[in-house]
Amino acid sequence: LRVVVIAGGLSPEREVSQKSGARVADALRRAGVETELRDVGTDLLPALAGARGAVAFPVLHGVAGEDGTIKEVLELAGVPYVGARPGACRAAFDKAVAKEAFTRAGLRTPESVTLPKEAFHDLGAAALTARITERLGLPLFVKPRAGGSAFGVSRVESAERLPEALMACFAYHDEALIERLVTGTEIAIGVADLGDGPFALPAVEIVAEGLYDYTARYTPGAVEFHHPARIPPAAAEEAARVAVAAHRALGLRDLSRTDAIVTAEGEVVALETNVAPGMTLTSTYPMALEAAGLGFGDFCRDLAAAAEQ
Ligand code: DAL
Ligand code: MG
Repeated sequence: LRVVVIAGGLSPEREVSQKSGARVADALRRAGVETELRDVGTDLLPALAGARGAVAFPVLHGVAGEDGTIKEVLELAGVPYVGARPGACRAAFDKAVAKEAFTRAGLRTPESVTLPKEAFHDLGAAALTARITERLGLPLFVKPRAGGSAFGVSRVESAERLPEALMACFAYHDEALIERLVTGTEIAIGVADLGDGPFALPAVEIVAEGLYDYTARYTPGAVEFHHPARIPPAAAEEAARVAVAAHRALGLRDLSRTDAIVTAEGEVVALETNVAPGMTLTSTYPMALEAAGLGFGDFCRDLAAAAEQ
């Protein structure tokens, strides 16, 4: 088994991916796997040429990494890889499409609307704000329709703040996903599949002082994590069921992480599912593996070995 970990990429999450990739490569080496870490930018194709005869382990976050593009290229190059196939990545990476899949699977997800950038210019800020707040109320979350690490995400408490939140969002994507805020306990549920079907890892609870934004995510000590999450056993069971159902509904493989809110009533509301969950020191997926008693290096090795076959 030889593994080429592909990290970096061209999205705003490049630095996060470099950290995730370095950690995965290091863990693989410690698990005794011959591993090469390739930090790719626009030089992806030469990197893939070097991956011939190896298994690719893409740890790319965001556009071109998590949206299925890299997987398409790997398929064309005939390189086996860890993770979901292109179409499934595409569906999961598009938050609106993923939410539709959740709803079809009977899962709860916050009510939302999508809004193209042009609508902002065509209708004007005032009319748009009135329309959106009439439909969804306040507070709201404004997110780029696709993207990660909370880039371009705002929590909007009052109507007059909506236009600036939309502008911040449109810096990252041409379409906004505007969601009704659901209050409760924020959790991340990792899903792993080592060949016997997907199973959920213990939910990790995230307690951020303000927004769980980029700085909070990647500053050690900025966020309190609890694993297992401090939620009732029935809610923990439901969270596991929801994460596996989301993974299946999107047709994913190997690993994913569903982010969700547990309400005071114990309902689990799915926000999104990540096909390339962060693997940094402050990321929840590795914490969940540890909580499950699974070694990080062994886990990465097993995924790569399964992909080789
Ligand atoms: N997009 C980041 C890396 C995450 O979901 O962990
Ligand atoms: Mg995400």
